[in-house]
Amino acid sequence: MKTIICDNYEELSLQGAKLIAAQLTQKPDSILGLATGSTPVGMYQKMIEMNQKGELDFSAVTSFNLDEYFPITPDNPQSYRYFMEKNLFEHINIRREYTFVPAGNVENVEEECLRYDAAIDAAGGIDLQVLGIGQNGHIGFNEPDDYLYCGTHLTPLTESTINANARFFDSTDEVPKHAVTMGMKSILKARTIILLASGKSKHGAVSALLDDRITTDCPATLLKLHPNAILICDKDAYNG
Ligand code: F6R
Repeated sequence: MKTIICDNYEELSLQGAKLIAAQLTQKPDSILGLATGSTPVGMYQKMIEMNQKGELDFSAVTSFNLDEYFPITPDNPQSYRYFMEKNLFEHINIRREYTFVPAGNVENVEEECLRYDAAIDAAGGIDLQVLGIGQNGHIGFNEPDDYLYCGTHLTPLTESTINANARFFDSTDEVPKHAVTMGMKSILKARTIILLASGKSKHGAVSALLDDRITTDCPATLLKLHPNAILICDKDAYNG
């Protein structure tokens, strides 16, 4: 994995936004894979600034988000659809009907998972996938386990993830216990992947990315198999 070490979060956010800009310059109708969580927020802010200055155009872009809590409705302020609206979509010139987030409020979740993978394939596959990383090494909500899933699937969240995400809720009890997430195959099929990691709490997970081994105990290590995966981390995540 190519690694870019940044002095701080600000620089990490700028580096990420520059890679997105380079992608859209090369292919204005790119298919972007997007992530939620706190890490990409700074990068989204830079993308918004570039868009508002006329330096970055999203008018031909399609996006697929990695995951969504389950069950949850899209208008719930804790949903990832709502997060994307507030932190990116409503500030840029992306066509809303070309932004996709797995549905967290369907009756037949298996059907929704198949539909989501088919929609990614029908769009031509993801050109550039943005990822954050969990403290436990999860990407999307592919949590550490003996087996990982290839396709989009419903997954229980680990206690570590529920605790880490409790900061966005009034109490830990309110954090949904499940999510619909893209699987490892959908992520690894992306032509370029950028993984953002910031802060000391990510040092353990980042360390696992820096040697030559892969393990399903740290799903992010599978990115080492990808020919074009870039880790962008700050010094705190890199050095601990
Ligand atoms: C979010 C996602 C998660 C987060 C990860 C890190 O769509 O898929 O894998 O990227 O939990 O979250 P933050 O950035 O909040 O530390």
